[in-house]
Amino acid sequence: MPFYVRAGAVPSKRHIQFRRPDGGLYAEELFSTKGFESVSSLLYHLRPPTATLQIREWERHLPHFVPNDPLRNRHFATAQGNRPGDAVEGRTPILGNADLALSVADVDRTMPYFYRNVGGDELLFVHRGSGKLETPFGELAYRAHDYVLIPCGTIYRLTPDEPTRLLIYESRGQIDIPRKFRNPYGQLEEHAPYCERDFRAPELGDPVDERGEFEIRVTNAGRNAVYIVANHPFDVVGWDGYCYPSAFSADEYAPVTGKLHQPPPAHATFEAPGAAFCVFVPRLFDYHPLAIPVPYNHSSVDCDEVLYYVSGNFMSRRGISEGSITLHAAGAPHGPQPGAVEGSLGKTSTDELAVMVDTFEPLQIAETAFAFEDAQYYRSWIEPEPVLAAR
Ligand SMILES: [Fe+2]
Repeated sequence: MPFYVRAGAVPSKRHIQFRRPDGGLYAEELFSTKGFESVSSLLYHLRPPTATLQIREWERHLPHFVPNDPLRNRHFATAQGNRPGDAVEGRTPILGNADLALSVADVDRTMPYFYRNVGGDELLFVHRGSGKLETPFGELAYRAHDYVLIPCGTIYRLTPDEPTRLLIYESRGQIDIPRKFRNPYGQLEEHAPYCERDFRAPELGDPVDERGEFEIRVTNAGRNAVYIVANHPFDVVGWDGYCYPSAFSADEYAPVTGKLHQPPPAHATFEAPGAAFCVFVPRLFDYHPLAIPVPYNHSSVDCDEVLYYVSGNFMSRRGISEGSITLHAAGAPHGPQPGAVEGSLGKTSTDELAVMVDTFEPLQIAETAFAFEDAQYYRSWIEPEPVLAAR
């Protein structure tokens, strides 16, 4: 997250001699993005992070993706039937394209290895559960409704304190706060739905002073490998900079409300190459005396819309429950299901919580998603036949 943070011990200037108590040098690492031209941090390790003992193949099962053809709206009810696992191998891919992959995971165990995605940032949304993300920058505690943003290249291990349901977005690039929320100095503007105080950085503890054989599973845009390294990756005594994992709770999001219905861009959270993220949180409805609280019918011809339903009544959606994922495909009309408009009139607030991403290239469907599909969803807008009175 691009706010400056400093933790632990760092030397007075970058790139100078910085010595351990035994007289040896700490190993400085530049953790940078977009080459050397975007946000970065400097970390100081007890020992070099480069000591690789062995590299071998990561025999990883990656699903086959198929086009959403014939083009239609889809619903995947993922709450039931997903196999638990760890936060990486336990992922069940649902949708993806060259910009973004979306999966769910029911995490019930600690990863017995470290993981590093060098292909882009990862954004984890915590539907339920709590635990910690361990990284070289320190530990980041997470809880339900947190977004956990993990910069490209971060080595991490996720340890649940209780069973954790995650929605996972893997981007091909950097996931950022939208430009419209920042002033020219990078500070969040007054109209932004969150401020710097809402973002949590990792807490750095004592460095892990261990040598041995440590397994890091590495992925980068479809290339996978297992690295065995000699020095514990969390042997950091200090770091500073603008690039580090962070957490932000959707419960802290301050929604925009209006006289009339506010479209998804009014609920923006993050943006990434080819993707825009938003969140629908409990909020007051529109205050025009004749306002219709639920959305209008529309066909988003330029993007695929993916909603993940977290909690609440989901007033405009029939057959949807917690853990449901809907894909409203570019050009496929959708809107409130029959009865939802009339049912919404006069309501003054909603308790729904749902997270959304729009992608600007078509999403494909992972073969693993079909086990969760409600194949009749695209017919859910059919008006019921009127009941004829008996003569
Ligand atoms: Fe929509």
